[in-house]
Formats: sequence, C-alpha cells, structure tokens
Amino acid sequence: MPRNILVCVAWPYVNNAPHLGHIAGMNMPADIFARYHRLAGNNVAMVSGSDMHGTPTALRAIDDGVTPEEIAGRYHEIWSNSFKQMDFSYDIYTHTHTDHHRDVVHDLFRVLDEKDLFHEATQSMPYSLAEQRFLSDRFVEGTCPHCGYEAARGDQCDNCSRTLDPIDLIDIRSKRDGSKPEFRDTKHLYFKLSAFQEKLEEWVEGKTGWRPNVRNGTLNYLREGLHDRAITRDIQWGVPIPVEGYESKRVYVWFEAVMGYLSATKLLAQEQGEPDGWKRFWEDDSAETYYFQGKDNVSFHTILWPAILMGYGGLNLPTDVVANEYLNLGDTGFSKSRGNAVWLPDYLERYDVDPLRYYLSSIMPETSDSEFTWAGFLAANNNELVATLGNFVHRVLTITTRSFDGAVPEPGDLDDTDRAALDACDTALNDVAAALDARRFRDGLRAAMALAQHGNRYIDQKQPWATVKQDKAAAATALWTGLNIIATLRTVFSPFLPSSCEKIHDMLGLAGDVASGGWNRAEVSVGGKLASPTPLFRKLDESIVEEENARLGQPTQENPG
Ligand code: MF3
Ligand code: ZN
Repeated sequence: MPRNILVCVAWPYVNNAPHLGHIAGMNMPADIFARYHRLAGNNVAMVSGSDMHGTPTALRAIDDGVTPEEIAGRYHEIWSNSFKQMDFSYDIYTHTHTDHHRDVVHDLFRVLDEKDLFHEATQSMPYSLAEQRFLSDRFVEGTCPHCGYEAARGDQCDNCSRTLDPIDLIDIRSKRDGSKPEFRDTKHLYFKLSAFQEKLEEWVEGKTGWRPNVRNGTLNYLREGLHDRAITRDIQWGVPIPVEGYESKRVYVWFEAVMGYLSATKLLAQEQGEPDGWKRFWEDDSAETYYFQGKDNVSFHTILWPAILMGYGGLNLPTDVVANEYLNLGDTGFSKSRGNAVWLPDYLERYDVDPLRYYLSSIMPETSDSEFTWAGFLAANNNELVATLGNFVHRVLTITTRSFDGAVPEPGDLDDTDRAALDACDTALNDVAAALDARRFRDGLRAAMALAQHGNRYIDQKQPWATVKQDKAAAATALWTGLNIIATLRTVFSPFLPSSCEKIHDMLGLAGDVASGGWNRAEVSVGGKLASPTPLFRKLDESIVEEENARLGQPTQENPG
C-alpha cells in the first residue's frame, strides 16, 4: 500500500535573499525525503511558500520607500527561482499573500472562535514615539528575564529559546533607532493555548521517535506551563481579522503562516483538478505529515500549530518535526542581518547545483551545528564526487563503449567477487532507503557513497581494461556488473543528486527517467545501447577557495595571514 506523505517545509520570510544556511537546514532534507518517497512509490505532496507578512517586511518597505507587496513580491520571485534552480521538487511553492490563503485562515479562525478558543484582552505594547507606531516582537530588544541574554527579541530569546512578550524584556529599546519605547494599551485577541497543555504533553510524550533535540526541547517548554498568546498585531501588513473592531489590525504572522501548510495543500489539490485531494494528507488517519524546520522554529510546529489543529478538530497532527541545528560559515553564523553569508543566487551564478546539494547533504547539521567552508566544498567536489562517484561511472562507461561497441555486454558465470558486488547494490538500496525514511540523511548519503567505493574497488580488482585483451568474457562480466552498480548508484543518489542521476540514466541508455524506474536497480539489458559518456562532475581549481574566502572578506584557512 502506498503511504500518503505530506512534506511540509518552513516558509521563508521574503525580505532578503536566501543563503546556504537556510537551505541546508530545511530545503535539502525535505527535498531528499520527498524524492526518496516518490521513488519508493508513495503519494507525496511537498508544500511550502513564502511567508510574505510580518513586521520585518513591513519595516523594510518603509525604509526602502516602497510597498510591502513590492518587497515581498520581489524576494518571493528570487526565492522561487533559486529553489527551481536547486532542483527542489516542490509540488507547490505558493505564498501567504493570496485570497486563497486568507480564506483558509478565516475558516480556521471562525471555527476556533466558535469553539470559544479566543479571548480578548488589553495589552500594554511598546509604542515608538519617534515612529508613531507600535513596535511589535522583533523590533524591540532587551535583556531576557529568564537567562539574562542582553539582545533578546520581543517574541523570543535566541539564547534560551523561550517565547517572550515585549513587556517581559528588561531595558527594552527599539531596534530601529535605539530609543526607549513607551508602553500603550491596545486590545488584542488571545489564543487559549493554555487549554491544550495536557493534550499536548500527552501527545509529545508519545513521540519517542522524534529527534531528542525536538522532543526534549518541547517537553521542557511544556513543563514551564503554556500561556495564552496574542494572535493579533497592530500593523497593516498581513491577513485581516474577521472580527468586528479589528479592522486596523492583522493576524500575527506566525499564527497564519503555519496555516499555510493546509492552505497550500488545498491549493495544490485545486490546481490538480481534484479539490478534495488534500484530505488524503490531512484527514486520512494513516497519512504521515513531516515538518522540516530550523531549530529556532520548533515550538511553533510542536506546540502552536498542533494546538490549532487540536482546536479545529479532524485534521492530522504532525508525525514528526524534523529540525536541524545551524550551518555555520567558518565559525560565524550564517546570518542575513550580519551580511556574512554565502548567498544562493551568487553561488548558482558560479557553480553547479549537484556539488552543493552533495556537500550540504554531507555536512547537514542533523544533530549538532556544522560548518560550511569553501575548502570543504572543494574537497567534497574533487575527492568524492569527481574522484569516487564520477570516476567510477566514467571508467566503466568509457571502457564498455570502447571495447564492446557501446552496448551492454553479456556476462559469463559470476564468481564470488561479482556476486558480492551485486549484493552491495541490494545493501545500498536497503540501507539508503532505511536511513532516508528515518530522516537520517547523512547516513543515507554515506551508504550511497559506500556503493561507489565498492564499485571502484571491484573494477580495480577486475581490471577489465587489461583483461579485455586476453579474456574478453571476463571483461564482459566485470563491465556488466559495473553497469549494474551504476544503475543502482543512479537510484540511490537520485534523492541527493537528481540531475546527475538523470544524466547517468541517459548514459545507460535506459528508457524514461529515473522516477519511472522506482526504488530499485534498473534493468540493464544485454545488448542495450549506451549513450556516449560525458563526465558527470567538473574538477574545481584550488584557487576557488581563496577567491571565495576573499569575497567573504576572510583570510583563507590555509593562509590565515
Ligand atoms: N518565516 C519563518 C522564518 O523564516 C518560518 C515560518 S514557517 C511556518 O523563520 F511554519 F510558519 F510556515
Ligand atoms: Zn533567554
């Protein structure tokens, strides 16, 4: 029975360009996972979009003298295009500034309201006299009352991850101009999050398969006790609130952005001409829903969104929230605000996609923070992709083309070494599948690479380029086996390196594409014509390390002075 698998990827704010830190944390794992499950024959929908609303975008628009639509629209294009270039296989990548999303938010809103899950209260909020506006969340900072961190934001402390309200901050100041805001009363709707305390605890306790960082973080958070959260804001940019008296306010960006997973799935179903198709992911009990996130967004997906879903009723709760740690650049965080980042559009102008997909997968910050370095990128490309995977594929294909007239040779009797090589193919298919299904992406990549290494050892041992002169049958067996290994590499690497694997597929002369073959070894049929081989990967010159580091304004690792 095919499984119904919904792959939900965090919705990026679109007030700046994407950098590698973003995509290593969520887009890469989500895409690998979705691609694997499609190949395994499951029903997959991979959904996301741009998070258009929120104060950062509204304020950036004021600074640039344009409308928030212009800012968000412009960056939405940049993010969508970069994602396409990266071969991320979204079934839908939409955004939150659509009538459709608004309608879905309003539907959820009305039901929660009918169930009496909102209450109104007056709140004291920071108000900037200089700017004549309320400063919400991220635009105030001060000292965290829990841990003493001095640059905590109004909605969250980056040091201890606790959720905050601006009024909690000690020595509050505006992040816009450093001025001290005054507090003014304003009325807001609160979501009765506290009503879900026990249900959430029980639910998270049962999630023993979650990564420890996600489960323990959520349980610690729950232990402190949930508070009702204001879910309206005094801004103009966002989703209007379907309640009288709230015309000048908007829905809190997080409260509606998480609803995007549902609105996007519904939109996808409409686009596919099957308006009820979303139900197989959201209502079918056996469906699985996975949320790919950065670690700072965990509680929105393990607490806020599940509470909304519990309150609404009848919709599936997350199966797993797959949160990665951070990818750091050298030893500085990939932070947009500090401008010290490798920007994805820049990368894509200079290099190929698959080497980046490969390197980011190999250093994915699954269980602890990890580091991107250009020296590491160069080594991954030259020593692993070119020297191990590319070299094996190229060697086998060129010898076969040269010595067997560009067709799959007929094997003779198989010896133990040949059989071990074919067994390694089955092992790789099983190991990569098990790792990816369990969201262990680095292990999956390692298991795929182990097969390429086995292939190289096998061919070194069999030396078909030499045996072809005295014992053509032996060479034929070795090359036939080698071609079977290549056909398997094509499958096991395809979630990671989709376009290179399509190339391998074509060079093997196979019909259709990788996707049509499923999660297995393709049939390389004896006599089948191969296409003429071209190298899969380009060796990069060592000078790129210095060049790229200079772009970052940092000394190279080899040459710290
Ligand atoms: N826009 C948020 C960020 O970039 C993430 C939103 S994820 C969603 O941190 F769940 F709200 F969709
Ligand atoms: Zn703190």
